[in-house]
Amino acid sequence: MFKAIKSFPETRLRRLRTNDWSRRMVRQNSLTVNDLVYPIFVTEDQNETKIDSMPGIERIPEKRMLKEIDEIERLGIPAVAIFPVISEEKKTALGEEAFNSNGLIPRMVRKIKEADFNVGIITDVALDPYTSHGQDGILEDNGTIDNDGTLEVLTKQALSHADAGADVVAPSDMMDGRIGAIRKELEKKGFKKTKILAYSAKYASSFYGPFRDAVGSKNSLAGGSKEQYQMDPGNSDEAISEVFLDIQEGADMVMIKPGTPYLDIIYRVKQEFQIPTFAYQVSGEYAMLKGAIDRGWLSRAAIYESLIAFKRSGADGILTYFAKEIAQDLS
Ligand code: PBG
Repeated sequence: MFKAIKSFPETRLRRLRTNDWSRRMVRQNSLTVNDLVYPIFVTEDQNETKIDSMPGIERIPEKRMLKEIDEIERLGIPAVAIFPVISEEKKTALGEEAFNSNGLIPRMVRKIKEADFNVGIITDVALDPYTSHGQDGILEDNGTIDNDGTLEVLTKQALSHADAGADVVAPSDMMDGRIGAIRKELEKKGFKKTKILAYSAKYASSFYGPFRDAVGSKNSLAGGSKEQYQMDPGNSDEAISEVFLDIQEGADMVMIKPGTPYLDIIYRVKQEFQIPTFAYQVSGEYAMLKGAIDRGWLSRAAIYESLIAFKRSGADGILTYFAKEIAQDLS
């Protein structure tokens, strides 16, 4: 490739940068509304809607969900990922509310599906919004997370979502074997079209802070960490193993999370597997950008730049709290 480039002055790379049209004409990557997935926090009515660490994002009361999805559809955003804010009194050590077939998420999914929007519904399969200790798994007596015991609960949870009509279930807890367990159960129960978006390489990250404020799992977690199951930020080969296993186990799409600090992982995964690959620009990334933009320290153009970086790295889609805002810009 480099043999084709002559030296200066035959080659002046600035020539093509001269005009708006020529810059657009040779641009390699683009961002469209089809690349976006919008995460939504839904709350059982009595909760506070404002999230201090995520200005511009609200917990959407159950009653307002259809209006919200209608807006998403109008903007042309292909899918939403919904996360529940569960009332404190429903949280238990074993997180049973997670598979209540009449719980908040199945209720919401049914309502949305009845209204027949052209918007994909992705549900989060993990226990942390439902456990009194805020961990994504159930605990053994010594306080470690019981991997295989957790799989049984996750499987029931995924089934309750699929049964309500969820288009995509997205296991986000990093237990070993969860994709296989869920895929097997979905097939067995006849949910052949339910897609699995695996949070395959999810790092033990400080960038989830505002999300934990939003769903109220921070207090439950009480300083506890998730390093026993989420990945170590120092590792990259392990991400390849995680993605490999999830594909073997039946994932349709994989995800890397957080996004910006892990662009190298997105790049490697896409190069290695050529499977639909998503990035999650998480709550802390949103808070950083939004906080600086609101103070005038960064211009709004930083949002687009942060998102096109994902496309450049190879991501096919991006979960971002900026989805609505950027969809408006793009239209
Ligand atoms: C938990 C879950 C988390 C996020 C999505 N699902 C947080 C965590 O692992 O504690 C984070 C998303 C964000 O920060 O925007 N299963």
